[in-house]
Amino acid sequence: MFQYTCLNPVAQIGLDVFGEGYAKTDDVNEAEAILVRSASMHDMELSDKLVAVARAGAGVNNIPLEKCAEKGVVVFNTPGANANGVKEMVICGMLLAARDIDGGINWVKENASDENISKSMEKAKKNFAGTELKGKKLGVIGLGAIGVLVANVANRLGMDVYGVDPYLSVKNALNINRDVTVLKSYDELYEQCDYITIHVPFLEDTKGMLNKEAFSKMKDGVIILNYARDLLVNDEDMKEALESGKVAKYVTDFPNPAVVKMPNVIATPHLGASTEESEDNCAVMAANELREYLENGNISNSVNYPNCDAGECFTAGRITVAHRNIPKMLHQLTNVISAEGINIDNMTNKSRKEYAYCVFDIDSESSEELADKLREIDGVLKVRVVK
Ligand code: MLT
Repeated sequence: MFQYTCLNPVAQIGLDVFGEGYAKTDDVNEAEAILVRSASMHDMELSDKLVAVARAGAGVNNIPLEKCAEKGVVVFNTPGANANGVKEMVICGMLLAARDIDGGINWVKENASDENISKSMEKAKKNFAGTELKGKKLGVIGLGAIGVLVANVANRLGMDVYGVDPYLSVKNALNINRDVTVLKSYDELYEQCDYITIHVPFLEDTKGMLNKEAFSKMKDGVIILNYARDLLVNDEDMKEALESGKVAKYVTDFPNPAVVKMPNVIATPHLGASTEESEDNCAVMAANELREYLENGNISNSVNYPNCDAGECFTAGRITVAHRNIPKMLHQLTNVISAEGINIDNMTNKSRKEYAYCVFDIDSESSEELADKLREIDGVLKVRVVK
């Protein structure tokens, strides 16, 4: 019986993925798996029982990835599962920036008691006029699941779309409409775009990437959209750029005490992926990733360990080892297994930066005794008896 816990409410359709053999617990120390949305795990003690964390969403800045990796805890996310929800919000954000829809709606509310509203609005509407998206240049920073959807739909709306992604995957590249121009550098994008939307993860090297230097290369009156993470934008520099008019509007899903006081900010409370469909998709994907890992030891969409697919286990036993990516590990691991007189039928080993993961399919059932011997090897972080 596997036990899992949820640190936030998670869509029932996702929890239904855990069938027989799974129990939900409220005691995080009893759980082998954690499902999380936005709850911060940075100050949490990670119990020795914990083997996996799945984030129902894309951003993982609420999870201590390194601390988890050091304990052999595999962290998953759900790339693409909420991409359509975010894409639709980005289009909405561009429209809100292009035309004063919000001002117009407020005007109607304020004039609700006006018996002649149908006439007076014809006079008032000039105050809320705007521009169209068609023909404008959109720059998409980051062509991952969300960036590609945004680029393609904007292209279909008649925008001239440019994208940049130094880590563009083959899969995403193949999904980009051929009318979208993929540029080599951020500078080329900054120089020509009327709208710039950012869709990169928050990492040490993306922190504050939209800053004074970047703004100085952009067109005067550029509109910036941020449906990714707040700290990708340097608030101080944004304030200055908004005050000078360099940035005409900042559309953000991440209001904070500084941003909400800035002029020409259009802010929503992190609504990008807040749709029934996105929440369901993320929950189902996260639960499936956990099941595959718990039941078969296979890893897909991890953000701190390598992906590793050893398929179904057709041998008598399977044991998995999360370990440091250092010399002689495989030699030591296989020595321990063979010293027990066990034959290794199949072995899959994958590495990712400092960490690696190994699946051994063996000709006898694996046991906690064998696991304990493997755990004694320096550099082994977690051993799991899967079968
Ligand atoms: C994400 O990271 O997936 C989105 O920002 C939505 C969310 O945080 O749930």
